[in-house]
Order: sequence, then C-alpha cells, then structure tokens
Amino acid sequence: MKKLFASHGRDDEFRAVAELIIDEEEKKNNRVLARSLRRTLEAGPARPAKPKALAPLIPFPEAAGDFIELVEPHHDKHDVVLASDNIRVFASLLKEFRRADEIRRRGLPVRSKMLFCGPPGCGKTLTAEVFSAELGLPLYIVKLDRLISSYLGETATNVRKIFEFARKQPSVLFFDEFDALARARDEAGEHNELRRVVNSLLIFIDRIQPKGFLIAATNLDQSLDPAIWRRFDEVIWFDRPEPAMIRKFLRMRFKNVVASFDPTSRASELDGYSYAELERISVQAMKSAVIDNRKEVRENDFRAAIAEERRRRKGNARLMRSN
Ligand SMILES: Nc1ncnc2c1ncn2[C@@H]1O[C@H](COP(=O)(O)OP(=O)(O)OP(=O)(O)O)[C@@H](O)[C@H]1O
Ligand SMILES: [Mg+2]
Repeated sequence: MKKLFASHGRDDEFRAVAELIIDEEEKKNNRVLARSLRRTLEAGPARPAKPKALAPLIPFPEAAGDFIELVEPHHDKHDVVLASDNIRVFASLLKEFRRADEIRRRGLPVRSKMLFCGPPGCGKTLTAEVFSAELGLPLYIVKLDRLISSYLGETATNVRKIFEFARKQPSVLFFDEFDALARARDEAGEHNELRRVVNSLLIFIDRIQPKGFLIAATNLDQSLDPAIWRRFDEVIWFDRPEPAMIRKFLRMRFKNVVASFDPTSRASELDGYSYAELERISVQAMKSAVIDNRKEVRENDFRAAIAEERRRRKGNARLMRSN
C-alpha cells in the first residue's frame, strides 16, 4: 500500500504496484477481490497511446528516411484478435517491461527481442502496432530489403546508426520482411560486402539491449536458419484463424454494424482465409449496404463479398504459379 501511494503521479510505477497487489490477492485465493481490482484498474483513465504524449522523440539519423518509418498507431487492442497463448505472452511481456528497471537492478535479463512468424495477413504488423501503443512507445518500421539492397556501400554505417538510436530512444523497432536477411545470407556466397552487411546486422541484433523492443517479422516461405532465430527471446506464431477465431473476428468486426443476419453463421465457409481476407470480405459487405443506401448489411452482401474474395484468391494463385 505504501508503495502504491508513493507511486502517485507516476503511471507506470502505479500500474506495476497495482498489478503486484492483484497478483498477491490472486495467490491468496481472493479471486473475487482480485478480479474486481483488475476491472477497476483496466477501467481507469486510458494510458496515453500516442508517442507524442511522451518525451520528445530523438530525431532519427539523417538519410534513414528511405528505409525507416515512424508509424502512428491507428489501432488498439480491441481491433486485434489473438490466440489465447499469444495474449498471455504479450500480457507477460508488458508486465515485464513495466518492471524492467527493477528486474535489471537485480541483475536479471529482460526479454526485449521477438520474432513474429506466420503467413501474410495474420496480424504481425498489426500486433506490433497495438503492442507499441499499449507500451506507450513509438513504433519504427525498418524495411530490411531496402536497407540491404540500396545502401550496400553504407549499410554497415546505417545499421550502426539504427542501433545507436535504439539504445537511446525507447521504442519498438520493427524489422519487417526479416526473411530478406536470411535470403541475403544465402545469396551472399562470395559477395563479401553483402556477407559483411548481413553479419554486422546479426551481430548488432545479438548485442543490442534496446530500451524498448526489437521485433522481426517473417512469412517464412522457407525455414529460417537457427543461427537467426536463436537470437530472439521469444518466437511468436501468427497462424491463419481457426473457426472459433473466425467467429471472434466477425463478432468484433460487426460489433457496431447493423446487420440483418448473424455473420458468424457463415464462419464455416471461411476456413483457411487469413484475417486480412476476412477483413476485406467484411468491408466489402458493409460497402455494398452503403452503395445501395441501406442501413443494414444483409446476408446477400456478405455472400457476394465471399464470392468476390474467392475470385481474387484464384487470380492470386495464378500469379503465384506464373512467377
Ligand atoms: N489477428 C488479427 N486480428 C484482426 N485483424 C487482423 C489480424 N491480422 C490481420 N488483420 C487484418 O489484416 C490486416 C493486415 O494484417 P497485418 O498487416 O498485420 O498482416 P501481416 O501478418 O503483417 O502480413 P504480412 O506478412 O503480409 O506483412 C490488418 O490491418 C487487419 O485489418
Ligand atoms: Mg506485415
């Protein structure tokens, strides 16, 4: 209690202490009290999601604009559907981050490097965005393929700049298309400069102790070299949704939409679709209602949107075959 009072005015500290108290009550088997405390805590004033509300950002090194981008969060945790295992991992990472200083003071390591794996459109980028908003940290997306290909001569210097930056600026540094690194490693062969670049990136990832998080994402079109994935503290999988998750997504997506049918009743037709495809189907169905000047989305709109997505998929499959 004393700690709680002492944390007055410091939101992070307050939350961490409040969570400790809740944990203790849970351990003491006071579940009802713990649950009610947690609800009260969660219903409290929203934490500032936008990095703008925090300390001024350190300007990013010059010339980095081509391969790095500051992303403003547009989504929050209510927009993302996650498998329950993943929800647990992220909740525990958040707790750990809020107590990071204390953990480090006791000489213990803090998890800060994550690898996101999974097929396209299943939430890797979205989750990075929502996670940084939850942490209250700015999100920087590093486009690895651009970093590697267009700056070969200067990549090592640029890489150093990025990591210098990550050491100073608490942030989430998101390396998208991380397979580019694995590919470049395979292709390097005798190409000394490329090999040096890839190795320097790997060494930096090894050594960096980011003030926030480093997240790398890959679609894994081929298996990833253990030399790469073992550098991460957590490997998190984002899979295509199973029927229960499809229903969860549809409930979330149609929550504030007037519909004359239950979209979840069509979930069985959507097996195998990614979340991005489900999103497109939902949006397309909603648009049909707007175009027809109707207040409610009808089952027919939804059915037509599924058919449209199927047609699109066939087209994509042809493109993949012709590649
Ligand atoms: N788990 C999810 N919950 C809710 N919506 C999702 C989820 N995953 C994807 N979406 C929807 O699909 C869109 C694209 O997802 P996202 O960019 O996160 O995919 P990704 O896994 O990063 O794919 P890629 O490998 O192509 O980069 C999101 O903006 C969102 O509309
Ligand atoms: Mg992505």
